[in-house]
Amino acid sequence: MKTLFVKTYGCQMNAYDSARMADLLAPLGYVTAEEPDNADMVILNTCHIREKAAEKVYSELGKLRILKEAKARAGERMTIAVAGCVAQAEGEEITRRQGAVDIVVGPQSYHRLPEMIARVARAGGHVLETDFPADDKFDALPAQTSATGVSAFLTVQEGCDKFCTFCVVPYTRGNEFSRPVEQIVVEARRLVELGAREITLLGQNVNAYSGTGPDGSAGSLAKLLHILSGIEGLARLRYTTSHPRDMSDDLIAAHRDIESLMAYLHLPVQSGSDTVLDAMNRQHTRDDYRRIVERIRNARPDIALSSDFIVGFPGESDADFADTMALVRDIGYTQAFSFKYSKRPGTPASAARKQIPEDVKSARLQELQALLTEQQNRFNRSCAGRTLPVLFEKPGRKAGQAVGRSPYLQPVHVDGAADLIGEIRDVAILEAQSNSLKGALARAKPREMALAT
Ligand code: 5AD
Ligand code: SF4
Repeated sequence: MKTLFVKTYGCQMNAYDSARMADLLAPLGYVTAEEPDNADMVILNTCHIREKAAEKVYSELGKLRILKEAKARAGERMTIAVAGCVAQAEGEEITRRQGAVDIVVGPQSYHRLPEMIARVARAGGHVLETDFPADDKFDALPAQTSATGVSAFLTVQEGCDKFCTFCVVPYTRGNEFSRPVEQIVVEARRLVELGAREITLLGQNVNAYSGTGPDGSAGSLAKLLHILSGIEGLARLRYTTSHPRDMSDDLIAAHRDIESLMAYLHLPVQSGSDTVLDAMNRQHTRDDYRRIVERIRNARPDIALSSDFIVGFPGESDADFADTMALVRDIGYTQAFSFKYSKRPGTPASAARKQIPEDVKSARLQELQALLTEQQNRFNRSCAGRTLPVLFEKPGRKAGQAVGRSPYLQPVHVDGAADLIGEIRDVAILEAQSNSLKGALARAKPREMALAT
């Protein structure tokens, strides 16, 4: 038996990939460990989206080198692999900067890890794989073996052809690629067998999904959601991340028609200024975005909206930033992610002349985050007094407590619910706490009522 430690950075797709790497190595005798100390194999599954995310990897590698050397002194070997988007973007530069790294493997090549590990064990030295055949990868991966939890991720689409001028994704994850419908259905069924009640479909541009259906025709995300909604035991569906341009009529209608599709949508707008949106190559205006939101709200009035924002994009003026603030006030988000613009090597915006000073970026981020937090708090407070269906996912911090999610993705803590993991129950929301809700089971379970009478 050998031990494997995987550390995941960045997005949910990386979390999915990390789980698949563990599935891939399990038949070779690798059992996952919670700590890197003494592990036989360590994988850092990295993120390149912003500079800070990428730099963290090198400081972690410095620490791993010490562990590896300690293990070598005991006559044992620790194999260190860097996977994910930093691996794809920096390739050999990684082994040049940190010689303790044995394997560099990109996000589309990790199905080759077993042979790469064997090569390192046989011949030593460094091995690198950063090819781009996403279809090979999904064909080569084994079926899920490990429990994925009540709420599971399933990658249905990868890569991006949109080339927003700030973004590394088209370079690190490659062109848009959609998995065939059948493959996804098989995987979804498997996840349900392993205990999933909720599946979040993942893709960098998930709503551009166009995978081939069983009849050979190109599908859409809406069609895929309809098919998956028929899987018995699969109570909830979500998808992320979407691009406003791909919010098609059938997908909007799916929010009205599919009961198991949760009333929550992460629809990044990035900026509320048409000038900035144009410079970002987003290919929509703020009014296009407003209209899309209006149509979604017509289809599903209670939809909770989330977004990503970038402040301090090159050339962003005070007036541009004011437009972002105005759009946020206008739309009203239930939660959101916001970032200072970060120069990424090789992207067009990194070469723009009018970069924004750090202190201006920080001030704008603070102002935007204050507004977004206020909106989130207001939404959470508005839930107090309501009854919401909660899917319980895991034990809470206190004994007997369980934590689940509302349809709007809010974490909900409930006492006396520890035996309800994996189940959906109506919960009376008592109060909004910071970032979560506190609730109580709205009705006793039928079994308990029977016992009581
Ligand atoms: N700088 C700052 N934020 C970025 N994002 C992507 N690239 C950058 C960058 N260069 C943000 C976007 C995207 C989210 C995943 O990360 O808001 O939607
Ligand atoms: Fe990056 Fe834009 Fe593609 Fe999203 S749509 S992954 S932000 S290039």
